[in-house]
Amino acid sequence: MSKLKIAVIVGSLSKQSINRKLGEGLAKLMQDQADFEFIDISRLPVYNRDFDNTPDFKPFEDLKPQIRGCNGVLFITPEYNRSIPASLKNVLDGLSRPYGQTVWAGIPAAIIGSSPGGAASAMAQQHLRNVLVSLDMPTMAQPEGFVRWSDTLLDADGNIGAASHGFLTKYMSKFLDWVQLQQKK
Ligand code: FNR
Repeated sequence: MSKLKIAVIVGSLSKQSINRKLGEGLAKLMQDQADFEFIDISRLPVYNRDFDNTPDFKPFEDLKPQIRGCNGVLFITPEYNRSIPASLKNVLDGLSRPYGQTVWAGIPAAIIGSSPGGAASAMAQQHLRNVLVSLDMPTMAQPEGFVRWSDTLLDADGNIGAASHGFLTKYMSKFLDWVQLQQKK
């Protein structure tokens, strides 16, 4: 099989996002094994089901081909008040509609995220897992990606630093194996 293509969806819209930096570090770490496409969710409106019947306004529909063109999705989520940011729930909801035209079903996924606090986005990740079950996305169970942010997580060039290199290499290798396993024969 050719090189896997992974869509990366970062829940934070911040230009300084630590979760985006983590995602960029992970993409560099695995660049020989897969291609990573960061999906821009920053310009999406707040989903409204009236859009489903509006043929000339399709901000969510326009993103679907990007997701369909990938073998798997890596979700990288911050934790906002013990859950996922609205921006992440928004793209999940928007691309699950119109009814019967979800983009998500069957696409293998994994969840990872970072926060400076000790909880390391664990509760947000657990909420996201619940949503992905509903969307019928086969989601890697282990290892879990609870990454506590510190200034040494990445080196000066944005590469994954020495302290987390082993764990994150294992995490991403298992994710790519998971994606490979889920591809239709
Ligand atoms: C936070 N943060 C946070 N952290 C955490 O561990 N648990 C939480 O419940 C929250 N809640 C929360 C709410 C809101 C509205 C903000 C803006 C922040 C802190 C958060 O982890 C920190 O700001 C991260 O840097 C956010 O990730 P990005 O945007 O840098 O990727």
